[in-house]
Amino acid sequence: MTKIQLSILFLLISSYLYAHEGMWVPTLLDKYNIEEMQQMGFKLTTEDIYSINQNSMKDAVVLFGSGCTGEMVSSEGLLFTNHHCGYSYIQSHSTLENDYLTNGFWAMSKDEELSNPGLKVRFLEYMADVTDSVMAGTDGLEESALSEKIADNIQAIENEASDSTKYEAIVKPLFYGNQYFVYVYKVYTDVRLVGAPPSAIGKFGGDTDNWMWPRHTGDFSVFRVYADENNEPADYSPYNVPYQSKSFLPISLKGVEQNDFVMIYGFPGSTEQYLPSEAVELVMNQSDPDRVKIRTEKLNILSKHMEAEPKVRIQYASKYARASNSWKRWQGEIKGLQRMDALAIKESFENEFQNWYGKNDSLKTIYSELLSNFEEQYSELRDYNRAYNYYSEIVSQGTDVLSLVRSFSQIGKSWSSKDEEDRQQYIEKLQEEIQDHFKNYNLETDQEVFIRLINQLKADLDPIYLPEKFHELLESNTDEGLRKKVYQKSKFTNQEKLLALVGNLNDAKIRKLEKDPIMLMYLDLIDYYRSNIASKYNAIQSEIETLQKTYMAGIMEMKQGQTLYPDANLTLRVAYGKVEGYQPLDGVNYKHYTTLKGIVEKDNQDVYDYKVPQRLKDLYQSKDFGDYGKDGEMPVAFTASVHTTGGNSGSPAINANGELIGLNFDRCWEGTMSDIIFDPDQCRNIMVDVRYVLFLIDKFAGAGYLLDEMQIR
Ligand code: ARG
Ligand code: GLU
Repeated sequence: MTKIQLSILFLLISSYLYAHEGMWVPTLLDKYNIEEMQQMGFKLTTEDIYSINQNSMKDAVVLFGSGCTGEMVSSEGLLFTNHHCGYSYIQSHSTLENDYLTNGFWAMSKDEELSNPGLKVRFLEYMADVTDSVMAGTDGLEESALSEKIADNIQAIENEASDSTKYEAIVKPLFYGNQYFVYVYKVYTDVRLVGAPPSAIGKFGGDTDNWMWPRHTGDFSVFRVYADENNEPADYSPYNVPYQSKSFLPISLKGVEQNDFVMIYGFPGSTEQYLPSEAVELVMNQSDPDRVKIRTEKLNILSKHMEAEPKVRIQYASKYARASNSWKRWQGEIKGLQRMDALAIKESFENEFQNWYGKNDSLKTIYSELLSNFEEQYSELRDYNRAYNYYSEIVSQGTDVLSLVRSFSQIGKSWSSKDEEDRQQYIEKLQEEIQDHFKNYNLETDQEVFIRLINQLKADLDPIYLPEKFHELLESNTDEGLRKKVYQKSKFTNQEKLLALVGNLNDAKIRKLEKDPIMLMYLDLIDYYRSNIASKYNAIQSEIETLQKTYMAGIMEMKQGQTLYPDANLTLRVAYGKVEGYQPLDGVNYKHYTTLKGIVEKDNQDVYDYKVPQRLKDLYQSKDFGDYGKDGEMPVAFTASVHTTGGNSGSPAINANGELIGLNFDRCWEGTMSDIIFDPDQCRNIMVDVRYVLFLIDKFAGAGYLLDEMQIR
């Protein structure tokens, strides 16, 4: 082969390898990206995606709350995001009489919209590479002097960019600190709930269908952003007016076909694409399995109690959903990494890396010990990592009672630092917290989780990772003893007693709380953890971070001329791919879309996750799909080969013409290892079809007036 043929072959191979993978920084989209996008059908330019000179698509995409994406769909501040992103706000307005979670909510005019204190929507003004300013004056500095200088520089950049608090500015590292970007946001704080479908639609399939395809969830909710009379951010006021964003997305009713171009524009939270093999090994053979094991125990107990008692089901629905979401994702991740033979992929990449630096003496001096250093650090991390995961899953967040105790663990300090006046307020705050806690608490349920998990802590962790007293406690008590003498004796499992103590709090009462059996156990564990595990764990992790920064620099140099994307870090990214199904198993072929027919097929009035509302069934029977259906079908969801992750929830799915065609809300289970390695064959993101969203607003909810302000094509 000639040199040219060879390089064409190489190009073909590398573009195949990279097909659809990546979450790209919109200001760094290069020729490679835009050519690939255009080859796939994209009709617009990089300037249309991101520009600071003119209004562009980026002005329509927002960070919704603390970890979701939303998009503007009208000139009057109307915003779409997922139902699961709006969930806690919908819940906060729900009462027994007005149960919006169950029945849905639709404002029939602007004055029926509901305000949501605390909810923020961030519009990105601009992002910029500030690597040089962050690194200014750091030459020759090492370790703590270096990190202090970097922190000072970052602070100065943020202060300047925020223009005395007009904006929110944040500097974030890319490529493990080989590059830094500043992100400058305008933060709107008057964001009102406009509408949400009933959970039987917005959460259809519940935890059973979560992370799975074929999927039929109408996972959307509608909000409106308000501004002061100058279109500037302002806290809630009845005088505020709908915000006019610089741009909003037109909506297409044309729908999607197999192989259509699709782009996801949003705020992916975190990925780890450049880990060495040891790190991947630890995730798939230790961290994921350990956490799955602990949560399996917990979830089994929760579901047993939830099935037995309707009240418990309501109390624990949201806790169950939260715990089961990652539990299911980790299992998919383990399977996916195994299926791909991820370790072999990483090792062969490491061989390539060694061959690369091996040919050059000056590179050798930088990198020759890197991979063995990784090996050393990860093998040292191993046992601490197990302890870290167990403490995190069991002591900090596993049980209701320990979570409550944790938030009371500083009570002595807080009390003594307050004067008479503040103390009364403090008491009221505690009382409120107690009432909130016990609203969603069931003693039998949590007691069983508690006993099971602390037994597991002792059974699975090497004794050196647990304090002496904890051993003694478990050795001198049967489960019955733990129930009677620890769990039921604790004030933190008895609402009346706890409220009574807190109601006239004084030094003596605080001592009582500090001597509570579960408080003592918690403090003992957490002190031991801090001095014997966390310190060492963090020290090793910080060594690993330094190595990872060097490794990343090496990879970037080795791959010079090829386009790399930085790991996700909850900043605005572009990802693209095409509409396509997949083959998860031998003999199984998944289509790229689902329809209302599938919802009716899944209907089961006896199973909570599959109770289809009668009205939706009626619309299906009468085939009353308006302009939203196609060929007698009502499309519901579709999949594409776009690289997404948590945080991309609510992100707009955009077609070749820059029109909204769907809302991203999940990934398929077989592809959840894409946070570590992307497999174009198996990794699919899941979107709700915007035609289903409009159908629900118009035909199901009768809130069609909202469509008047949208630009529907
Ligand atoms: N798996 C989706 C995402 O991570 C949706 C989660 C909410 N839904 C649920 N059934 N728990 O986050
Ligand atoms: N449901 C996820 C979210 O809340 C998106 C799914 C994923 O992790 O890709 O962001």
